[in-house]
Amino acid sequence: MPAVGRKVTRKEGKEKVTGTARYIDDIQFPGMIYGRTVRSSIARGSIASIRHRLPKKEFTVVDYRDIPGKNVIAMIVQDQPCLVEKQVRHQEEPILLLAHENRETLLKADVKIEYKKLKPLFDPEKSKKSFKKILIEKGSIQKGFRTADTIVEGTYHVGHQEHVYIETNGVIAVPEKDGITIYGSMQCPYYVHKSIMALLDLPDDKVRIVQVETGGGFGGKEDYPSVIAAHAALLALKSGRPVKMIYDREEDMVATTKRHPGRMHLKTGLKKDGTITAMEVDVLFDGGAYVTLSPVVLSRGVLHASGPYRYDHIRITGNAVMTNTAPNGAFRGFGAPQTQFATEVHMERIAETLGIDPVKLREKNALRSGDTTATGQKLGKDCSALTVLKKAVEKSNFRKKRKSYAGKNKGIGLSLFFHGSGFTGIGEVMLASEASLELTKKGARILVANTEIGQGTRTMLAQIVADALGFPYDKIEVSEADTGLVPNSGPTVASRTCMVVGKILQRCAAEMKKKLGKMTPGAYLKKHGPLVITKKYEKPPEIIWDEENYRGHAYGTYGWGCDVSEIEFDPDTYEVRPTKFTAVQDIGKAIHPVQVVGQIEGGSAQGVGYALLEEVVMRDGKMANASLTNYLIPTTKDTPDFDVVIVENPYRHGPYGAKGVGEMPIDGAPPAVVNAIRHLNLDVRSIPATPERLMEAPCISS
Ligand code: MOS
Repeated sequence: MPAVGRKVTRKEGKEKVTGTARYIDDIQFPGMIYGRTVRSSIARGSIASIRHRLPKKEFTVVDYRDIPGKNVIAMIVQDQPCLVEKQVRHQEEPILLLAHENRETLLKADVKIEYKKLKPLFDPEKSKKSFKKILIEKGSIQKGFRTADTIVEGTYHVGHQEHVYIETNGVIAVPEKDGITIYGSMQCPYYVHKSIMALLDLPDDKVRIVQVETGGGFGGKEDYPSVIAAHAALLALKSGRPVKMIYDREEDMVATTKRHPGRMHLKTGLKKDGTITAMEVDVLFDGGAYVTLSPVVLSRGVLHASGPYRYDHIRITGNAVMTNTAPNGAFRGFGAPQTQFATEVHMERIAETLGIDPVKLREKNALRSGDTTATGQKLGKDCSALTVLKKAVEKSNFRKKRKSYAGKNKGIGLSLFFHGSGFTGIGEVMLASEASLELTKKGARILVANTEIGQGTRTMLAQIVADALGFPYDKIEVSEADTGLVPNSGPTVASRTCMVVGKILQRCAAEMKKKLGKMTPGAYLKKHGPLVITKKYEKPPEIIWDEENYRGHAYGTYGWGCDVSEIEFDPDTYEVRPTKFTAVQDIGKAIHPVQVVGQIEGGSAQGVGYALLEEVVMRDGKMANASLTNYLIPTTKDTPDFDVVIVENPYRHGPYGAKGVGEMPIDGAPPAVVNAIRHLNLDVRSIPATPERLMEAPCISS
């Protein structure tokens, strides 16, 4: 029986439900001690003095002078120090590291730091330091605006968002004979590997990174584990003992990355019938104190700022700037939720302004096969914008409810969106991912660096391999993501694992199958000895990308989605209750339909939270509401009933036609929810749309 398309048992499911799965804080090593980070309490300035009286015999104390290699967290640009030398650029910036046998004593240890303060900058509009600027241009907007009957213009804002993975960041660093091993909760073992090599000045084979069972990531464990791993490694090297560092929720919230806040300005030229003649978009992202991943987050942001619409004349400008808060980083969607929120609320405002049905407006302008995107990418048959729109409207009974909800404190709104799968442009070529498949006595073992972080990686990859080999699913094992064992198959990000890594494994399996012929694995191993097949990513020939001018194939393919949100509104408290949510999403092929529904429901719920509840309050550049009693995420009681419809329009270069599914679901929910609120005649253009904000929202002129 084929495994693909079936709800097979999760590879690590039993361990998780029975509580035997071991997360980083469950793991002990002989002689292990605990590590802690001493952080800045100002947003900008320099260190004047550091004083403490910690007994040398008991405490290990590390500062920047203990770093054997470069004092840097090696990511895209090497601007972020591992430990502050003199200049502080944000609150809670790491300055000193402490380790002790006893966790309580460690927490009580007192270090006094005096500063020379400088005036911090928190407003991205006023920042003069740009991390990255991008321009996308197609046609001539001047020309397009000249033929317009009307212009609709507006500014839209989104705030920070905290990942709130169930398990906070944590690692254990174990000193080895002239090297180091780091175990931890993470998405990308080879990212950590690269940054530890630079920090400790160690060669490849002296650094080993092992991902252990990980309780969620959502992008928050894409870049940050490189920081906490660096700290634990320094303490381990100096003390000569294994060092465990686990953040509590508060430290995780104040010190680690968040989603980039954004300000989007949109200006659209239109014919009376709703045909778009020109589109101008300006995107500003707040990067925080260091570059980290801001350039690539901005890139994906501007590439999705067009929404899934056709334009002859469009100009998109983007800028990611520095401010004095903790750096913002990767978060599910990676810039696309920010910009598509603006585009979809703007589309709603266009429909309101022109008095056109919101579905008709989108139908008229949606991308079709054969159209080109803002970067000039010609879309093939794998374009489903109209299909998902039509299905979502039918399935939710949108038109009828749109009429019947009026005047009843109920609202219904929709959003149309898309999401590029995999790294941008020729990013996958640069990554040059490698995956391996090893023949075992009973079947095969998958060797990849891609991590299971709750989304179902191990299961989904095993399904692909099982069918490609013609073996039963339970004969396929998945190796630990341990850089000592697996090749670098790239990071677990960008909705790439299934489409990109799954495809490489499918090719490995096809070759293995050919080699085996009619032999059983056992017989083959006996006769020929071990068999490991390794393959590299192969670029589909049509992908041509000009990074300089942002022209060409931004992504190999796109997923397409249409969400319909229904809400109830309390006119006394201004609370919004999301009641029903219809999500229709084309992901090429659902390798595991239950996991796919889980991703779509989970991503949508996270998007509903982003739209209504999740507000990061910054005070003096520090998250002031760093606890789950003050930073609210949706519980089951705040989550609507979901109706998920999977559309399978295959991508010919994906395994069994699969595209990505991890990120797209969070793009659609925020604008769908806000457009449902707009249906109540409230002019909301920013999220989170908290009751306080709604109370101040003007009416949409009637
Ligand atoms: Mo992701 S936000 O590409 O980890």
